[in-house]
Amino acid sequence: MQLVKVDNYEEMSKKACSIIMEHIQESRNPVLGLATGSTPEKLYSCLIEKYKQGKVSFENVMTFNLDEYVGLKKDDANSYHHYMKEKLFDHVDLRADQIHLPDGHSEDLEQDCRAYEKQIQRAGSIGLQVLGIGLNGHIGFNEPGTPFSSRTHVVELSPSTRRANARFFPGIEEVPTQAISMGIASIMESKKILLLVSGEQKAEALHRLLNGDVTEDFPASILQTHPDVTVIADELALEPSL
Ligand code: F6R
Repeated sequence: MQLVKVDNYEEMSKKACSIIMEHIQESRNPVLGLATGSTPEKLYSCLIEKYKQGKVSFENVMTFNLDEYVGLKKDDANSYHHYMKEKLFDHVDLRADQIHLPDGHSEDLEQDCRAYEKQIQRAGSIGLQVLGIGLNGHIGFNEPGTPFSSRTHVVELSPSTRRANARFFPGIEEVPTQAISMGIASIMESKKILLLVSGEQKAEALHRLLNGDVTEDFPASILQTHPDVTVIADELALEPSL
């Protein structure tokens, strides 16, 4: 893993933005894996800004999101479909057929998971996957204990993840109990991985990622075995490791 230390959230987002732009410019058929949550918000604003300045185009890009809540309609304000439209997709030159997210409102979730894997394979696998990390070490919505061999699947969200994400909902009761997530094996097939970590609340998770054992009890630890991972972490997240 390559660790890039930056001063703050702003710098982390700018650095990630330039890595993604470079990837898009250098690849013939760029396939991006995208995350939601608080961490990549400024990265997406930066990509929009660069697009508006004519410095990047998404014309040839395909995108696959990591996850989606089960039970929320696409236009629900808390769905990841909605998040991505609002934070990125509606502001750049991406057509609907270039965008992929698991369908958390599908009638056959298992079938949808299998179809999602096939779509990724057909696109030639993910070239650059953007990740955040959960307080419990989850990547995507792969909670502790998820087999490293997992593929896109329906997951039960842990109480800690539901509590952490309750800030986006009126209350914890409204946070869905399940999600569809790309599996750990699916994520690990990405050619490059870019993990973004910001803020002191992530310090413990980052410390364990950088120094701990590779174990299914801490899903992000598998990244230690991937050949091309860049971790961009800010000072607050790094403090105990400095
Ligand atoms: C989101 C995702 C999650 C988040 C993680 C961190 O698509 O897959 O793994 O990256 O929960 O969330 P934030 O960035 O809100 O701290």
